[in-house]
Amino acid sequence: MNQTAKIPFDVTAIRKDFPILKREVNGYPLVYFDNAATSQKPQVVIDSIVDYYSNYNANIHRGVHALSQEATDAYEAARKKIQKYIGAEKQHEVIFTSGTTHSINIVANGFSNLLQEGDEIVVSAMEHHSNIVPWQMLCQRTGAVLKVIPMNEEGALQMQQYKSLLNSKTKLVFVNHISNALGTINPVKEIIALAHQHGAAVLIDGAQACAHQQVDVQDLDADFYVSSAHKMCGPTGIGFLYGKESWLNKLPPYQGGGEMIKEVSFEKTTYAELPHKFEAGTPNVSGGIAFGIAIDYLNSIGLEAIAAYEQQLLEYATKQLLEIPGLRIYGTSADKTSVISFNLEGVHPYDVGTILDKLGIAVRTGHHCAQPIMDFYQIPGTVRASFSFYNTTEEIDRLVAGVKRAQQMLS
Ligand code: ALA
Repeated sequence: MNQTAKIPFDVTAIRKDFPILKREVNGYPLVYFDNAATSQKPQVVIDSIVDYYSNYNANIHRGVHALSQEATDAYEAARKKIQKYIGAEKQHEVIFTSGTTHSINIVANGFSNLLQEGDEIVVSAMEHHSNIVPWQMLCQRTGAVLKVIPMNEEGALQMQQYKSLLNSKTKLVFVNHISNALGTINPVKEIIALAHQHGAAVLIDGAQACAHQQVDVQDLDADFYVSSAHKMCGPTGIGFLYGKESWLNKLPPYQGGGEMIKEVSFEKTTYAELPHKFEAGTPNVSGGIAFGIAIDYLNSIGLEAIAAYEQQLLEYATKQLLEIPGLRIYGTSADKTSVISFNLEGVHPYDVGTILDKLGIAVRTGHHCAQPIMDFYQIPGTVRASFSFYNTTEEIDRLVAGVKRAQQMLS
């Protein structure tokens, strides 16, 4: 069944922007459904990296020479694009990091001296390990206690239970905007408002959100918001930490080195102002510039159009997959994005993934760095197909046929 033509979205033209989508895998045209792990890159992003190294490679914020100035301007222009993209009030509230995990660790480390024994930290039951382990380490350092917002069978957070966890000892709340393993879109605005009633700061992990829906950190009133470029059509090794200026000023630097200082002597060092206080060392200049180009690219398509198209892909795939006897989808919350985690009865997810790969279809299998979710459902893992705006219903048809074939071969 071909429904692509009915969707008011020129996916055929968009696909031409992504050179990798032309390749074959195991003799079949590639179907790339591992977008929650990392997105593919349009040619403009790839070209921007080559352009930087070919034409204006230089260290930034340091040189008086022309190349350094050009590179600095391009890097800082990218910061401005991120600021606008997420609706931050000030440019210096955007810190370049190596990605979401790095961003979370900066905040977790920064709270080491702000917490006392017995303080409470709240995380959700559906976090990625990178939004669990740094807080466990923080608890070990400070004597703070980790509390968990439970989820229900549909993979939605239990908001009543969340409310009952909050009290005067709650200092921090950490929740992902969208679950990487289930696709659930969490009610983060409400989560933040409730935490603020108790004076707690909130960090939102937006790794799965920023390429799929409009994010406005001021509207959300997030204290911290983090994401990675590589999930947003940008390169790996670069991401951002957004923090309200007041919070970022309270946190100490994460790493010492060049760039993050104002004055250094052997007696005393003073630190640079935001954002440089958190950006020690020569940064990932080409990555930052390419991140800005990726944001331009996403804006040129439009987040609203992307979200609407991906919802259609989600509905189309969900309906077809559920027609397969013995297939169960994990994550059935009404509010979800284009991620489908599923299993076939009596079949290990790894085996399904291996057969799909033989058919040229890339999915992720396993626990998706979210073992507590798998423990909740008492499963070893799932097969996860995660869609992006360059995917098509024809590709979903191939996934469905591939899953049926795997079922025949493995049951
Ligand atoms: N966090 C990435 C995923 O969900 C790696 O696959």
